[in-house]
Amino acid sequence: KNYKIAVVNGDGIGHEIVPMGVEVLEAASAKFGFKLAITSFPFGAGYYQEHGDFMAEGAMEELKSFDAILFGAVGLPAVDDTLPFKLFTNKVRTAFKQYVNYRPVKLLDGIQSPLGTKTQADIDFVVIRENNEGEFVQNGRVMYGDEPHGFATDTSLFTRVGIERIAHYSFKLARKRRSKVTNVTKSNTMINTLAYWDRVIGEVAAQYPDVEYRKMYIDAATANFVLHPEYFDVVLTTNMLGDILSDLGGAIMGSLGFGPSGNLNPERTFPSMFEPIHGSAPDIAGKGIANPIGQIWSAAIMLEHLGEQAAADAIVAAINQTTAAGVLTTDAGGTNSTKEVAQSILKFL
Ligand code: NAI
Ligand code: MG
Repeated sequence: KNYKIAVVNGDGIGHEIVPMGVEVLEAASAKFGFKLAITSFPFGAGYYQEHGDFMAEGAMEELKSFDAILFGAVGLPAVDDTLPFKLFTNKVRTAFKQYVNYRPVKLLDGIQSPLGTKTQADIDFVVIRENNEGEFVQNGRVMYGDEPHGFATDTSLFTRVGIERIAHYSFKLARKRRSKVTNVTKSNTMINTLAYWDRVIGEVAAQYPDVEYRKMYIDAATANFVLHPEYFDVVLTTNMLGDILSDLGGAIMGSLGFGPSGNLNPERTFPSMFEPIHGSAPDIAGKGIANPIGQIWSAAIMLEHLGEQAAADAIVAAINQTTAAGVLTTDAGGTNSTKEVAQSILKFL
């Protein structure tokens, strides 16, 4: 097998951790006998500073021809974070119909959760964040006006098609796990959009009578992530709620830097994109101390998506051997550098 992989470091720590992900992928390809044709693209906020856009013209067309995209994160303090679809991320997720944002929350070997007594048996679930619509469609306007006449709107958008497909994905995934779906919502105040969301999800739930289903409000869910993480198996939620909840998921795993993700186009009509859940971390960029595990784990999820399950499992095992050995960056309570953690993963692989 030969896979065409597009690599986009993005900005900040992306330049430090994405190359580690690529090294691990190359080691896995040598060991498991598949080939990778890797092409790097310099897109992101740094690219915007030079060229006035986050990616080259025609780049989406070019990216379309790849089997998958390995991505770091986009964003620089000097570049306005409110530019429409600035994040490159949003553009790719939407244009390539990557409507599933798959975000495992799983305590790695040897890691003490900040939740104290909670163990690996307790912290093992997955956040499925709707990734194409909802609160993040960027449909609105701001009128700065003169005080007190300013106003701003962001109208979220939920479609039946959009809700049904993410719901079916979640219930099918639950069947491969512990058969439980928790719909995290806020329909008690978002009485139009999220009431519709609940209703359509309820209809889909009825088609999976073997899967335990319940609805939970986001405020209660945040408390339960901390107090009762063992309750969760598949957490199905909206774009914004999932964005927030998955950082909390990263935190209970011991660091935001551990969290992996896949932006999936389950139909495979477009490439899927794999990135850590965190951003470009400008506060630590350039210091060689960023945690590369979320990135490397995302590369493993990419291989799983491409059908290289054995290689994916081997990478995840090497990550766990590394954390069990206490080879950790400072965010996770260790003293090791980005490179030392990646070297350890390579050694175990
Ligand atoms: P962030 O996730 O970059 O950082 C939050 C905190 O976590 C920081 O203290 C950072 O040092 C730490 N952190 C994050 N990843 C880490 C790692 N691998 N190892 C060790 N520590 C880590 O979020 P922030 O600061 O809110 O955003 C920074 C920039 O990233 C912004 O421009 C934002 O828009 C962008 N961003 C981009 C995303 C994407 O491209 N998918 C996602 C989230 C944010
Ligand atoms: Mg986020």
